[in-house]
Amino acid sequence: MKETSAYIERVRQVNAHYQHLELAAVDDALRKIKPGQSLLARLIDRNPEVEQWDPYLREHWWPIGFTPANTLLIERPTTQRYEPGQFLSLIGPIGEHYKFRKSLRNVLLLAYDSVPTPLTVMTPLLLKNGISVTLILLGRARQYDTAHLPPEIEVIRGDDRLNWEGQVMTLGWADQMFVTVNPDDELFRFGEVVHLLRERRNGIADNYVFGIFQPPLPCGVGACSACMLRLKEGFQAVCTKGPAFDLTLLHLPG
Ligand code: FES
Repeated sequence: MKETSAYIERVRQVNAHYQHLELAAVDDALRKIKPGQSLLARLIDRNPEVEQWDPYLREHWWPIGFTPANTLLIERPTTQRYEPGQFLSLIGPIGEHYKFRKSLRNVLLLAYDSVPTPLTVMTPLLLKNGISVTLILLGRARQYDTAHLPPEIEVIRGDDRLNWEGQVMTLGWADQMFVTVNPDDELFRFGEVVHLLRERRNGIADNYVFGIFQPPLPCGVGACSACMLRLKEGFQAVCTKGPAFDLTLLHLPG
């Protein structure tokens, strides 16, 4: 992982609330970035003499992959304003890539009251390998417009809690599951998801359900301890060992 620079070549609004940025002049160190790994980004002045510390906390960006034109694609909310030509300082790749089971056929992605981007970044790889994907959108995730996603992805919108149509079937059918929750209280909300799974399934196997943790990442290199997560076996830094953790390895409330 290292600090590099790039610039925004293109900005394209993909739906009412999200835009795709295409980053050019991306360093070779980021060419092998994989789904699950992320970037810490800050807009900078192209003049290196200018102070580059505002804002101090970088934005956490989730790359979708490279375009045919070799630009790196990033999804960002339209509440943030970007323009072609803006320069960036990037730290990455942050964390480890998502790990999939070997005999994977069906993946369930669940966004519970959170932005689903950390989940949808894995869908190009899954679809390319012939794996079925179902995306469940709950709470405020229901507002996410999925029109720009590949039609092969089955999208189900549930309610404000953990209810959706065909729940027993989708949970029984999934070989692996990845979950994002509202970052306001991740442990509590992941606990709710695990509680639901215990009610609906005959036990939860290892490496079945992964929570994607999104705490603030001030340093991104495991140096500041701000993102430490307490597992049954000890502490791990989300920025170096995350973002995805097997939820059966955590002490969760509920
Ligand atoms: S962000 Fe500093 S240790 Fe993870």
